[in-house]
Amino acid sequence: MPTTRADGAAPPDSTDLTRLRRAAADCTGCGLHRDATQTVFGEGPRRADILVAGEQPGDQEDKQGKPFVGPAGRLLDTALAEAGFERDALYLTNAVKHFKFTERGKRRIHEKPSRTEVVACRPWLVAELRAVRPRLVLLLGATAAQSVYGSSFRLTRHRGEPLAPPDDLAGLFDAAVVTVHPSSVLRAPDREAARAEFVADLEAARAV
Ligand code: URA
Repeated sequence: MPTTRADGAAPPDSTDLTRLRRAAADCTGCGLHRDATQTVFGEGPRRADILVAGEQPGDQEDKQGKPFVGPAGRLLDTALAEAGFERDALYLTNAVKHFKFTERGKRRIHEKPSRTEVVACRPWLVAELRAVRPRLVLLLGATAAQSVYGSSFRLTRHRGEPLAPPDDLAGLFDAAVVTVHPSSVLRAPDREAARAEFVADLEAARAV
């Protein structure tokens, strides 16, 4: 439940993105804050028509404190442009706002957030939805989709189709479209084909 003051785990009851960002910087709602460099809060216009949510910040995002500035972000940028979106007009964020990783030598390897971590971070995503009130929510990958629609949601079943908000988020946006995460495109054996399908989903989302 939102509280009137940040208590280290829950967002303040506010639609002021600056206030929410400040409060999120001190979030201790799950253990991920201990190893991450910083909270990576969403970024974009306060009244963006479209909110894009990914899984969690990666290595570069963790260092720079901004969403989608690493390799997946670069792919997302070119795909968005090809589908006719302007990145600066979008509000970009993540389902989980701290980088989860394991160290392998000097490298930090992305680790998928647990359901508990996704649930712990959900109130921040909901607070961003309340503040931005986008018309369309674009969910990149299963973690973002399951943060909004629950753990039984299957991306493969609903990919590219317009979805109504779940009951508890009714009124916060008109429709959502779910597609794959751009990092899965980077890992795909046939990257060109995966990228073309990703762009086609973004174009479908634009038509919504
Ligand atoms: N992957 C995500 O899901 N979000 C980012 O911000 C970067 C990579």
